[in-house]
Amino acid sequence: SRTARPTLQFSENQETSPARMDGSSAEVAKVKRAKTVLTVAAISGSLRRASANAGLIRAAAKMCEESIPGLQIDHVDISDLPLLNTDLEDVDGNAFPAAVEEFRDRVRGADCFLFASPEYNYSISGPLKNALDWGSRPPNVWADRAGAIVSASGKSGGKRSAYHIRQVGVFLDIHFINKPEGFVSAHHPQSKFNGDGNLIDPETGELLRKILLSLRAFALRLIHGNDSAANSGQGS
Ligand SMILES: Cc1cc2nc3c(=O)[nH]c(=O)nc-3n(C[C@H](O)[C@H](O)[C@H](O)COP(=O)(O)O)c2cc1C
Repeated sequence: SRTARPTLQFSENQETSPARMDGSSAEVAKVKRAKTVLTVAAISGSLRRASANAGLIRAAAKMCEESIPGLQIDHVDISDLPLLNTDLEDVDGNAFPAAVEEFRDRVRGADCFLFASPEYNYSISGPLKNALDWGSRPPNVWADRAGAIVSASGKSGGKRSAYHIRQVGVFLDIHFINKPEGFVSAHHPQSKFNGDGNLIDPETGELLRKILLSLRAFALRLIHGNDSAANSGQGS
């Protein structure tokens, strides 16, 4: 028998709790999550045309299509988002600017998240933090979903930015997989990406696959309880 999904308790204080969701979107999300194919909203923290992190997302999308049943990638472009400014909210009857509204819809409709982001100066890339912040505005659209982080960065592999994404995710109520950790030194000792930012390193591909399998198992556990993860063969 399946374990019932626990009811989440949200604070009524919008200022201190972006985890608050409105009832209707929670209902829609619940129905959607009964599907067998989970949608992964995948966000690149780099806006570069030949971004290695966007390349990781393209590789993940191909992998899901070809050999990871039950997962499909929705590559969500964040380059059109304005810089966060709450003066842009509730203008002319619109809660948010159109690009923000579309972004929030895609996030709200996803079953889980994949963040692929470079480390910038020991922390989260500015574009990704901006996107996280727009999604956090009440009602928070990130809440109560599984997430995974990969980073194609400098020699560090992006560890510090990944831990900062986790820290922000605590407040947004995103539940991250713990392992495997997705630290990729994009260009050391040799480049793992070609000039278009496409992944050319099989070992990194294998790591990415393990991360996606772990994300699928954890997302299923959050949605249906432990039984479903055990049945998917990814329970351990
Ligand atoms: C402003 C800036 C700051 C950076 N800071 C770091 C850093 O702190 N640690 C690191 O490992 N790499 C750092 N890098 C290197 C990028 O993480 C690396 O080039 C990454 O592959 C870029 O991702 P992309 O190919 O998806 O654009 C920095 C790059 C830029 C542009």
